[in-house]
Amino acid sequence: MRKIFIAPSLLAADFADFAGSVAAIEAANADWAHLDIMDGNFVPNVTFGPQLAVDLRKRSPLFFDAHLMVKKPALLIHELASVGNCGITFHAEAVENPRELLETIKSLGARAGISINPGTPSSQLHGVLPVCDLVLIMTVNPGYGGQAFIPQCIDKVRDIAAIREKFSLNFLISVDGGIHGDNARIAVDAGADVLVLGTAFFKAKDKTALVRELKTPGAITP
Ligand code: DX5
Ligand code: ZN
Repeated sequence: MRKIFIAPSLLAADFADFAGSVAAIEAANADWAHLDIMDGNFVPNVTFGPQLAVDLRKRSPLFFDAHLMVKKPALLIHELASVGNCGITFHAEAVENPRELLETIKSLGARAGISINPGTPSSQLHGVLPVCDLVLIMTVNPGYGGQAFIPQCIDKVRDIAAIREKFSLNFLISVDGGIHGDNARIAVDAGADVLVLGTAFFKAKDKTALVRELKTPGAITP
Protein backbone atom coordinates (compact mmCIF):
# COMPACT_ATOMS: atom_id res chain seq x y z
CA MET A 1 0.00 0.00 0.00
CA ARG A 2 1.45 3.37 -0.97
CA LYS A 3 2.19 6.03 1.63
CA ILE A 4 -0.21 8.94 2.02
CA PHE A 5 1.35 12.19 3.24
CA ILE A 6 -0.72 14.65 5.28
CA ALA A 7 0.32 18.28 4.89
CA PRO A 8 -1.60 20.69 7.14
CA SER A 9 -1.58 24.25 5.80
CA LEU A 10 -0.55 27.10 8.06
CA LEU A 11 -2.98 29.30 6.14
CA ALA A 12 -5.68 28.03 8.51
CA ALA A 13 -3.49 28.41 11.62
CA ASP A 14 -3.34 31.23 14.16
CA PHE A 15 -1.04 33.75 12.46
CA ALA A 16 0.12 34.93 15.87
CA ASP A 17 1.37 31.46 16.78
CA PHE A 18 2.94 29.63 13.84
CA ALA A 19 5.41 27.83 16.11
CA GLY A 20 2.53 26.43 18.17
CA SER A 21 0.79 25.31 14.98
CA VAL A 22 3.86 23.48 13.72
CA ALA A 23 4.07 21.78 17.11
CA ALA A 24 0.41 20.73 16.66
CA ILE A 25 1.23 19.30 13.21
CA GLU A 26 4.07 17.25 14.74
CA ALA A 27 1.96 16.13 17.69
CA ALA A 28 -0.76 14.86 15.34
CA ASN A 29 1.82 12.75 13.42
CA ALA A 30 1.18 14.65 10.19
CA ASP A 31 4.03 14.49 7.70
CA TRP A 32 4.64 17.96 6.30
CA ALA A 33 3.87 21.59 7.13
CA HIS A 34 2.39 23.31 4.05
CA LEU A 35 3.44 26.96 3.78
CA ASP A 36 1.20 29.05 1.50
CA ILE A 37 3.22 32.05 0.33
CA MET A 38 1.02 34.68 -1.37
CA ASP A 39 2.14 38.00 -2.81
CA GLY A 40 -1.10 39.95 -3.31
CA ASN A 41 -0.34 39.86 -7.04
CA PHE A 42 -0.62 36.29 -8.36
CA VAL A 43 -3.50 36.01 -5.87
CA PRO A 44 -5.28 38.87 -4.09
CA ASN A 45 -4.28 37.72 -0.61
CA VAL A 46 -0.97 38.24 1.22
CA THR A 47 0.45 35.83 3.79
CA PHE A 48 4.13 35.57 4.71
CA GLY A 49 7.51 35.12 3.05
CA PRO A 50 10.50 32.77 3.29
CA GLN A 51 11.59 34.28 6.62
CA LEU A 52 8.84 32.27 8.28
CA ALA A 53 10.40 29.03 7.02
CA VAL A 54 13.83 30.19 8.23
CA ASP A 55 12.51 30.91 11.73
CA LEU A 56 10.31 27.80 11.96
CA ARG A 57 13.30 25.67 11.03
CA LYS A 58 14.87 26.67 14.37
CA ARG A 59 11.90 25.01 16.09
CA SER A 60 11.11 22.02 13.89
CA PRO A 61 12.81 19.42 11.66
CA LEU A 62 9.56 18.80 9.70
CA PHE A 63 9.50 18.81 5.91
CA PHE A 64 8.33 22.27 4.82
CA ASP A 65 6.14 22.16 1.72
CA ALA A 66 6.30 25.72 0.37
CA HIS A 67 3.53 26.59 -2.09
CA LEU A 68 4.38 29.80 -3.91
CA MET A 69 1.33 31.67 -5.14
CA VAL A 70 3.46 34.54 -6.39
CA LYS A 71 4.21 36.21 -9.72
CA LYS A 72 8.00 35.95 -9.34
CA PRO A 73 8.83 32.66 -7.60
CA ALA A 74 12.49 32.75 -8.69
CA LEU A 75 13.09 35.60 -6.23
CA LEU A 76 12.19 33.42 -3.23
CA ILE A 77 13.71 30.02 -3.93
CA HIS A 78 17.23 30.58 -2.60
CA GLU A 79 16.14 31.65 0.87
CA LEU A 80 13.54 28.90 1.04
CA ALA A 81 15.95 26.19 -0.08
CA SER A 82 18.45 27.32 2.55
CA VAL A 83 16.26 25.88 5.33
CA GLY A 84 16.78 22.31 4.08
CA ASN A 85 14.30 19.39 4.06
CA CYS A 86 11.80 21.31 1.99
CA GLY A 87 9.83 21.35 -1.21
CA ILE A 88 9.29 24.43 -3.34
CA THR A 89 6.24 24.44 -5.59
CA PHE A 90 5.48 27.32 -7.94
CA HIS A 91 2.58 27.89 -10.34
CA ALA A 92 2.82 27.01 -14.02
CA GLU A 93 0.69 30.10 -14.74
CA ALA A 94 3.36 32.37 -13.28
CA VAL A 95 6.48 31.39 -15.20
CA GLU A 96 7.62 31.21 -18.81
CA ASN A 97 10.25 28.51 -18.42
CA PRO A 98 9.07 26.04 -15.76
CA ARG A 99 11.67 23.41 -16.63
CA GLU A 100 14.53 25.78 -15.93
CA LEU A 101 13.04 26.82 -12.58
CA LEU A 102 12.40 23.21 -11.56
CA GLU A 103 16.00 22.36 -12.33
CA THR A 104 17.28 25.37 -10.40
CA ILE A 105 15.21 24.38 -7.35
CA LYS A 106 16.64 20.86 -7.50
CA SER A 107 20.17 22.21 -7.80
CA LEU A 108 19.56 24.05 -4.53
CA GLY A 109 18.79 20.74 -2.81
CA ALA A 110 15.02 21.19 -2.47
CA ARG A 111 12.28 19.05 -3.96
CA ALA A 112 10.92 20.80 -7.03
CA GLY A 113 7.20 21.16 -7.55
CA ILE A 114 4.77 22.71 -9.99
CA SER A 115 1.11 23.55 -9.49
CA ILE A 116 -1.90 24.41 -11.65
CA ASN A 117 -5.08 26.33 -10.90
CA PRO A 118 -8.50 24.74 -11.48
CA GLY A 119 -8.80 26.55 -14.82
CA THR A 120 -5.48 25.31 -16.21
CA PRO A 121 -5.45 21.99 -18.12
CA SER A 122 -3.16 19.23 -16.93
CA SER A 123 -1.71 19.05 -20.45
CA GLN A 124 0.22 22.20 -19.55
CA LEU A 125 2.31 20.07 -17.18
CA HIS A 126 2.99 17.11 -19.44
CA GLY A 127 6.30 18.37 -20.82
CA VAL A 128 7.89 18.94 -17.41
CA LEU A 129 6.69 15.87 -15.51
CA PRO A 130 10.03 14.03 -15.90
CA VAL A 131 11.82 16.78 -13.94
CA CYS A 132 9.18 17.19 -11.18
CA ASP A 133 9.41 15.87 -7.65
CA LEU A 134 5.96 17.21 -6.74
CA VAL A 135 2.87 18.03 -8.79
CA LEU A 136 0.23 20.00 -6.91
CA ILE A 137 -3.28 20.02 -8.35
CA MET A 138 -5.30 22.89 -6.90
CA THR A 139 -8.83 21.81 -6.02
CA VAL A 140 -9.96 25.38 -5.28
CA ASN A 141 -8.94 28.68 -6.84
CA PRO A 142 -5.83 29.73 -4.93
CA GLY A 143 -5.84 32.63 -2.49
CA TYR A 144 -8.02 31.67 0.44
CA GLY A 145 -8.63 28.79 2.79
CA GLY A 146 -12.05 27.38 3.60
CA GLN A 147 -13.38 27.19 0.04
CA ALA A 148 -15.44 24.37 -1.44
CA PHE A 149 -13.60 21.50 -3.20
CA ILE A 150 -14.04 21.50 -7.01
CA PRO A 151 -14.58 17.81 -7.92
CA GLN A 152 -13.77 18.25 -11.64
CA CYS A 153 -10.12 18.89 -10.72
CA ILE A 154 -9.77 15.23 -9.79
CA ASP A 155 -9.80 14.30 -13.50
CA LYS A 156 -6.45 16.09 -13.70
CA VAL A 157 -5.09 13.96 -10.85
CA ARG A 158 -6.12 10.87 -12.85
CA ASP A 159 -4.47 12.19 -16.00
CA ILE A 160 -1.18 13.02 -14.25
CA ALA A 161 -1.19 9.70 -12.36
CA ALA A 162 -1.73 7.82 -15.65
CA ILE A 163 1.29 9.51 -17.21
CA ARG A 164 3.35 8.78 -14.11
CA GLU A 165 2.45 5.12 -14.43
CA LYS A 166 2.98 4.94 -18.18
CA PHE A 167 6.47 6.44 -18.10
CA SER A 168 7.49 5.08 -14.66
CA LEU A 169 8.00 8.57 -13.24
CA ASN A 170 8.22 9.02 -9.50
CA PHE A 171 6.94 12.43 -8.45
CA LEU A 172 4.29 12.78 -5.75
CA ILE A 173 0.86 14.21 -6.57
CA SER A 174 -0.69 16.66 -4.07
CA VAL A 175 -4.25 17.94 -3.89
CA ASP A 176 -4.86 21.27 -2.21
CA GLY A 177 -8.08 23.07 -1.38
CA GLY A 178 -11.27 22.04 0.38
CA ILE A 179 -9.92 18.59 1.27
CA HIS A 180 -11.88 16.87 4.04
CA GLY A 181 -12.50 13.30 5.17
CA ASP A 182 -15.37 13.00 2.74
CA ASN A 183 -13.45 13.80 -0.46
CA ALA A 184 -9.95 12.64 0.48
CA ARG A 185 -10.72 9.13 -0.65
CA ILE A 186 -11.72 10.31 -4.13
CA ALA A 187 -8.39 12.12 -4.42
CA VAL A 188 -6.37 9.17 -3.13
CA ASP A 189 -8.21 6.72 -5.41
CA ALA A 190 -7.42 9.02 -8.36
CA GLY A 191 -3.70 8.85 -7.53
CA ALA A 192 -3.00 11.63 -5.02
CA ASP A 193 -0.25 10.92 -2.47
CA VAL A 194 -0.28 14.20 -0.53
CA LEU A 195 -3.39 15.68 1.08
CA VAL A 196 -3.04 19.36 1.92
CA LEU A 197 -5.54 20.35 4.59
CA GLY A 198 -6.04 23.77 6.07
CA THR A 199 -9.45 24.18 7.64
CA ALA A 200 -10.12 20.47 8.12
CA PHE A 201 -6.93 20.02 10.17
CA PHE A 202 -6.96 23.16 12.29
CA LYS A 203 -10.67 22.91 13.07
CA ALA A 204 -10.46 19.20 13.95
CA LYS A 205 -10.98 18.46 17.64
CA ASP A 206 -8.91 15.28 17.45
CA LYS A 207 -6.12 16.06 14.97
CA THR A 208 -4.29 12.79 15.63
CA ALA A 209 -7.38 10.74 14.82
CA LEU A 210 -8.00 12.75 11.65
CA VAL A 211 -4.43 12.18 10.43
CA ARG A 212 -4.60 8.48 11.26
CA GLU A 213 -7.85 8.09 9.35
CA LEU A 214 -6.63 10.02 6.30
CA LYS A 215 -3.40 8.05 6.12
CA THR A 216 -5.29 4.77 5.92
CA PRO A 217 -7.22 5.00 2.64
CA GLY A 218 -9.51 2.11 3.45
CA ALA A 219 -10.57 3.85 6.64
CA ILE A 220 -11.53 7.18 5.08
CA THR A 221 -15.26 7.73 5.37
CA PRO A 222 -16.56 7.56 1.78
C1 DX5 B 1 -5.28 27.96 -1.01
C2 DX5 B 1 -4.10 27.28 -0.40
C3 DX5 B 1 -4.43 26.06 0.36
C4 DX5 B 1 -5.35 26.30 1.52
C5 DX5 B 1 -6.12 25.06 1.81
O1 DX5 B 1 -4.87 28.97 -1.86
O2 DX5 B 1 -3.16 26.91 -1.38
O3 DX5 B 1 -3.25 25.40 0.80
O4 DX5 B 1 -4.66 26.66 2.66
O5 DX5 B 1 -7.02 25.37 2.83
P1 DX5 B 1 -8.40 24.61 2.96
O6 DX5 B 1 -8.06 23.20 3.30
O7 DX5 B 1 -9.08 25.35 4.04
O8 DX5 B 1 -9.09 24.73 1.62
ZN1 ZN C 1 -1.45 25.56 -0.72
